[in-house]
Amino acid sequence: MKLNKAILPVAGLGTRFLPATKSIPKEMLPIVDTPLVEFAVDEAVDAGIEEIIFITSHNKIAIQEHFRRNIELEQKLLDAKKDYQVERINLGKYKDIKFSFVNQEVQLGLGDAIYQAKSLIRSDEFFCVLLADDLFYSKVGVTSQLVEKFKELGKSIIALNKVDSSETKKYGVIDPEKLENDIYKINDIIEKPQSDPPSNLAVTGRYILSGEIMSILKDTKAGFGGEIQLTDAIKHMISSEGVFGLEYDGKKFDCGSKEGFIDANIFFAKKQNLIS
Ligand code: G1P
Repeated sequence: MKLNKAILPVAGLGTRFLPATKSIPKEMLPIVDTPLVEFAVDEAVDAGIEEIIFITSHNKIAIQEHFRRNIELEQKLLDAKKDYQVERINLGKYKDIKFSFVNQEVQLGLGDAIYQAKSLIRSDEFFCVLLADDLFYSKVGVTSQLVEKFKELGKSIIALNKVDSSETKKYGVIDPEKLENDIYKINDIIEKPQSDPPSNLAVTGRYILSGEIMSILKDTKAGFGGEIQLTDAIKHMISSEGVFGLEYDGKKFDCGSKEGFIDANIFFAKKQNLIS
């Protein structure tokens, strides 16, 4: 079962972080010194992904620049005897990775963002989706955890976590059928249920999806919030192919919110002994 591509939607406006995001993409905001997007890319690469497809918008050139070699800066750092810094920017770790950029002209929702990569994904392959806003700290990367289960199940699988009942309205929420410890068969999925959530198991920003979802997204109409929701296409796939969920092992930071972003900075600064 082929799985070597990951889609990272990074076209959002990042309005919650204005004015910082007026000229800088939200995904370039740093956790200590590393842009959020680099954490997601590294997690995908660690999981064996070989092609990263960014769904971007024309004004997000900084992300493209970030994943390109900057030989001039490398040379300046070498001249200044800052070799350790060169290692941080020379991106040798990505030497076998292909980066593709697809423009999303109008932001119509996550489902529409994923659909923009339709010509790069075949219907008989699987691909990962990573939402860089969700940052994880875990022994084994959450995408690697998904890949391991995917190899057993050979079906679409989504990373889940339990949330407080007051929080379910902020996420996609599943109707679960427990199979083993942390694995669920998903019987239904609802985007941001405002009442009567089917459980407290929420969708987090890591997915492995069948390429078949592209033909479903083609016909997916706007749903919650007037946006084309990935959740609605997944709902369709539950009845056609089956979709599973994995309650991952790790800690999540919702860096789409200021609180989560600050929490993550404090957590990682402590890990690096920068603060106590
Ligand atoms: C998106 C998805 C939602 C999921 C969440 C995870 O929502 O639509 O189903 O639970 O990501 O972070 P967003 O946070 O973009 O509103």
